[in-house]
Amino acid sequence: MPGTLISILVIGAALLLAVMVIGPALFGAPWHPISRRDLKRGLDFCGTKPGEHLIDLGSGDGRVLITAVKEYGLNATGIEIDPIKVRLSNLRLKLAGVKDRAKIVRANIFDTDFREADILFIYLTHQALDRLFPKILEQLKPNAKILCYRFCIRGMAPDKVSADKTIFLYTMNRGTRVDQFR
Ligand SMILES: C[S@@+](CC[C@H](N)C(=O)[O-])C[C@H]1O[C@@H](n2cnc3c(N)ncnc32)[C@H](O)[C@@H]1O
Repeated sequence: MPGTLISILVIGAALLLAVMVIGPALFGAPWHPISRRDLKRGLDFCGTKPGEHLIDLGSGDGRVLITAVKEYGLNATGIEIDPIKVRLSNLRLKLAGVKDRAKIVRANIFDTDFREADILFIYLTHQALDRLFPKILEQLKPNAKILCYRFCIRGMAPDKVSADKTIFLYTMNRGTRVDQFR
């Protein structure tokens, strides 16, 4: 009997994990957390200033927010569609002691306002980025930066690309560049 219970629990946990990882692909991107090394590479690449506001579109387990606050002195907001990850990441923010400078909003990134961002962090897919592109152009502040991981923004020229072509930095530079957008 205990064996049956353990099997049910293991199968249940596996199903829940599958839903958390693959389910969000229907809305924008599957869950695949960035590594700590690449996250730090990206934030260093970006040249952040303490007090800037980073918004992570699809914030997963909240790791980007925690590192942004604790190690770079930023304020951070995560937008996440999956209610389980919202709960999990809220707990992680609490345990990390960054609740005063970071928050998670449960929402769909395509219906969300991110005009307050100084830095927009995006680890999604090309399809999601294509959909977001008009919103990015409409909403972001003149000098906002966009840090993309693994997927570049098609139709926008990056200011910097890492040697391994996994990190792409864009700045809006509104009013100073005329050749940026297709
Ligand atoms: C590739 S993961 C990146 C997670 C986190 N930013 C990181 O780098 O560790 C993509 C995340 O976006 C979330 N997501 C996918 N589509 C979304 C949507 N339409 N609105 C909000 N979140 C979404 C997924 O649940 C997942 O947590």
